[in-house]
Amino acid sequence: MNIDILTCQPALIESFFLHSIVKNALSKGLSEIRLIDLKKYGLGNYKQIDDYAFGGGAGMVIMIEPLEKALFDLTQDREYDEIIYMTPDGENLKQKRVNRLSLKKNILIICGHYKGIDQRFRDKYVTLELSIGDYVLSGGEIAAAVLTDALIRLLPGVLNDETSALTDSFQDGLLAPPVYSRPADYKGLKVPEILTSGNTKKVEEWRLEMAIQRTRERRPDLLSE
Ligand code: 6GU
Repeated sequence: MNIDILTCQPALIESFFLHSIVKNALSKGLSEIRLIDLKKYGLGNYKQIDDYAFGGGAGMVIMIEPLEKALFDLTQDREYDEIIYMTPDGENLKQKRVNRLSLKKNILIICGHYKGIDQRFRDKYVTLELSIGDYVLSGGEIAAAVLTDALIRLLPGVLNDETSALTDSFQDGLLAPPVYSRPADYKGLKVPEILTSGNTKKVEEWRLEMAIQRTRERRPDLLSE
């Protein structure tokens, strides 16, 4: 999967991709991530990318022209399956959407800043608008990093059996059950007996039961979806 990220602050997310699971996926060639600096497509000597909002009001808006120039340049060697704009007024990101997106070959993620990007670019080119929750971030970069991480860990070969995404919270519409490790008795705090019984079938039943119970308590909304 190829993920291109268009941003006016590439340095903000660069370090994120030099670590952990994402880094492994990149070094194994399972994914390619390119960070494209929008400033490269800025206008005039100052490489301007934003301007005042028509109609007044505080905050700058990223102009349509640098965005379109960047897109035209990028589409010289990529045909995007999805052009995603990260924005707090987008669709709330859920695991189901991540699963579906992870099957695409080429995606472009656009990060906004300031008061957002010119609506005409959204109307004409953006195919999907995503938010990562009901709060406002200063820019789309962190949101783009969140989406990228969620996508990459699903690609075949990225995770091994031990880190398998199949047992993640949300993957079956339930929160994950509690987990325990050694020792079985820590200063009197004991691990549920069933987990040390060696009865795999019983363990699985217990985990499902706990997952349902936890979901009912913490996220009843998930059970009615
Ligand atoms: Cl995608 N962008 C920004 N700026 N803030 C957000 C967000 C995105 N999702 C939640 N808050």
